[in-house]
Amino acid sequence: MKKASLILDKDYQISRIDPRIYGSFIEHLGRAVYGGIYEPGHPLADENGFRKDVMEAVRKLGVPIVRYPGGNFVSGFNWEDSVGPVSQRPKRLDLAWFTTETNEVGLHEFAQWARKADSDIMYAINLGTRRPENARDIVEYANHPGGSKYSDMRIANGAKDPLGIKLWCLGNEMDGPWQMGSKTAYEYGRTANEAAKIMKWVDPSIELVACGSSGSGMPTFGDWELTMLNECYDNIDYVSLHRYYGNPTKDTASFLASTMDMDDFIRTVVSICDAVKGKKHSKKQIHLSFDEWNVWYHSNEQDKEITQREKWGRALPLLEDIYNFEDALLVGSMLITLLRNSDRVKVACLAQLVNVIAPIMTRNGGGCWAQTIYYPFMHASRYGRGTALLSIVDSPKYDCAEYQDVPIIDAAATRSDQGEVTVFCVNRDMNEECILDLDLRSFGDLKMTEHIIMHHDDVRAVNTEENPENVVPTQAPLTKVDGGRAEVPVPPLSWNVLRFAPSV
Ligand code: AHR
Repeated sequence: MKKASLILDKDYQISRIDPRIYGSFIEHLGRAVYGGIYEPGHPLADENGFRKDVMEAVRKLGVPIVRYPGGNFVSGFNWEDSVGPVSQRPKRLDLAWFTTETNEVGLHEFAQWARKADSDIMYAINLGTRRPENARDIVEYANHPGGSKYSDMRIANGAKDPLGIKLWCLGNEMDGPWQMGSKTAYEYGRTANEAAKIMKWVDPSIELVACGSSGSGMPTFGDWELTMLNECYDNIDYVSLHRYYGNPTKDTASFLASTMDMDDFIRTVVSICDAVKGKKHSKKQIHLSFDEWNVWYHSNEQDKEITQREKWGRALPLLEDIYNFEDALLVGSMLITLLRNSDRVKVACLAQLVNVIAPIMTRNGGGCWAQTIYYPFMHASRYGRGTALLSIVDSPKYDCAEYQDVPIIDAAATRSDQGEVTVFCVNRDMNEECILDLDLRSFGDLKMTEHIIMHHDDVRAVNTEENPENVVPTQAPLTKVDGGRAEVPVPPLSWNVLRFAPSV
């Protein structure tokens, strides 16, 4: 049996946790919107065509912000197509996914859905095929009270009050050659700066996310951030990061260690932001928006076939990764990584929310069920609020094909405003249980109130509509806290949520 220790102190804090790190993403892609959140005619559709079962699953996750409407999709999207009478909205070829967008669900409908889901919208503008003035226009449409062309158009379209969208993405993955209207770092930095200026002149209360590299594997990664920030630092608030991991070679040990790379990615982008801050003698600090993260690889081959077969189809089943148990473990570790870096990561979006690389799946006309990755996200979103605590972990380590010195115990801890302490922990060890020696002495008298475990003997086990509870969390026996110390058994390959509350 292995042993690891975790020391927490109530005064050693990383940061207040911005609840927006539990954000998600809905793109006009595949069956995310049509057949996902929206399916008029479904027995569980509400009066606006939105599925109530999906809404309930989203609300249980607790998603405070949803990025919308893309993704790659947004770089060819004209926002004006998505407002006004539905019958007059154009059908458009979507060159990001080679499908047809009908614009049946547009800005107003999505805003209505988001309100019901208790989410704010993080709205991405098109800086691919469009210009800063179009970004200015939609800020005026969404946020200006009235008395101008676009705000009056919103009112005429049925929304007397402004939509109040506070967080905006200045395009999407603009360094990617696959992106419509992709740019060099300098071209993007200049365009983002000019868009940012006039968007904020219309509504000074908004915050803006500039596109970082579409991934740390891009040849231009680093230089892109440096060059574009040099052009737009003063007018933006966040830099975006995107990262998906996969396990095509079935190397679980390396796959579960992928968050070593994620940690490194975050620290590198932070360093670049701070280098530009230094160079500019600026007092302003740029934070990070990790606005696309997840596991993504299961559906790659299937997607090639679908796109070839059904080019220009509508609501095709694209990017429908079926997540297994090891994916849930990595998603747990990714959440731990976000918490560990919550002093700089203020926004993060699990990409995506429904059907498209998503925790929630639906069948057209049928049921709605939770994938394996649903559960760690729900736990972190529910219990990982308040303050992130510095977690001093001493753990046995392992080497694998891709990484060296990987701690078998990956952990983060939070303290709620009510004084509850929660430890999130993944045991990456493939075979052995680990005893986690917890030092909680600084918190006074705590008792364990819950130990949630997710484990399955088969790392490839999945949930399906027929068997939706194949991989679900269970309750483990509680461990006694004695003099502020607890020795918690953590099974091999498991996601754990250890919850403690003041004894009195
Ligand atoms: O989330 C799926 C796609 O991944 C997004 O459209 C794009 O931004 C990224 O490459």
